[in-house]
Amino acid sequence: MTATPLKVAVTGAAGQIGYSLLFRLASGSLLGDRPVELRLLEIEPALKALEGVVMELDDCAFPTLAGVEIGSDPTKIFDGVNLALLVGARPRGPGMERGDLLEANGAIFTAQGKALNQVAADDVRIGVTGNPANTNALIAMTNAPDIPKERFSALTRLDHNRAISQLAAKTGAAVTDIKKMTIWGNHSATQYPDVFHAEVGGRNAAEVVGDQGWIENDFIPTVAKRGAAIIEARGSSSAASAASATIDAARDWLLGSADGDWVSMAVASDGSYGVPEGLISSFPVTTKDGNWEIVQGLDIDDFSRGRIDASVAELADERNAVTELGLI
Ligand code: NAD
Ligand code: LMR
Repeated sequence: MTATPLKVAVTGAAGQIGYSLLFRLASGSLLGDRPVELRLLEIEPALKALEGVVMELDDCAFPTLAGVEIGSDPTKIFDGVNLALLVGARPRGPGMERGDLLEANGAIFTAQGKALNQVAADDVRIGVTGNPANTNALIAMTNAPDIPKERFSALTRLDHNRAISQLAAKTGAAVTDIKKMTIWGNHSATQYPDVFHAEVGGRNAAEVVGDQGWIENDFIPTVAKRGAAIIEARGSSSAASAASATIDAARDWLLGSADGDWVSMAVASDGSYGVPEGLISSFPVTTKDGNWEIVQGLDIDDFSRGRIDASVAELADERNAVTELGLI
């Protein structure tokens, strides 16, 4: 018997990330053989372009694509969805700071949070990729009071993957030998990629690297500023890697993280590691059956404490800014 399709909403579906994400979702990267039904949200002027993308999806004849619906009304598109991937937002251009985007994007996530609250399935999970992702997730969560807070997350998996890739290149290890990477804080240049709890081939990563200078002056800034470096090089923000990370995050959330490892997700803080309750901040988490749990009991030294606090302070500032704008 064929499994019931998972109803997956994608916003900003005609955008750059959408152009990679939709084909991965439709071809089984998320759930293997289980079919998906795509619900694609766009603003009115982008619907024609989206129709073209849907023609291409049709032309792939994916066995796991159970249907596609498109539209510009979130209350129709989100109706009954089990997973909502909120990608649509205005991307950062050269020279723009992410803070500039708060106001432009705040309104989008207010309306979408309300619509999800009204019509999404009872088991909905919501992943926010559109920037500023943490605060957009906070806005959507606050505007969806009937959906449990644990169902919202913002994407820091791209940063997590970037950190694994940099550490693998430095140590000559395979990416599969790197475990327990953590991104703390905001998906921004203040984020803290933490190698002190990571492992390379079962050994402590910081010890394997043995070079604090590289960690501080090379690894951390390279990972934290990777988004800006890609914008500088490509003239537009990362798209295929962002789509890939969006899928990695959603797949692990729904199906579970690997034994003996953890992943990074920005989720509503319960006060763990001194992060003020309610802020959507990145933590090391394990996932199982659509739930996540923050990894507890990690020793945080002064260096890590300072980095985490700086990124969390930025999140608190963003929360204050959107509070003043009346968005939450
Ligand atoms: P894009 O400009 O190519 O596409 C965005 C799409 O969103 C557009 O098609 C636009 O019409 C649509 N959109 C705008 N308002 C909308 C609304 N109210 N409802 C539905 N759709 C709407 O941008 P992109 O390159 O696909 O990037 C999308 C977002 O993802 C940006 O905010 C970008 O900064 C962010 N991003 C996040 C990460 C991450 O790791 N968290 C990584 C890369 C990019
Ligand atoms: C990225 O990390 O690639 C994106 O978030 C781009 C950006 O705006 O920093």
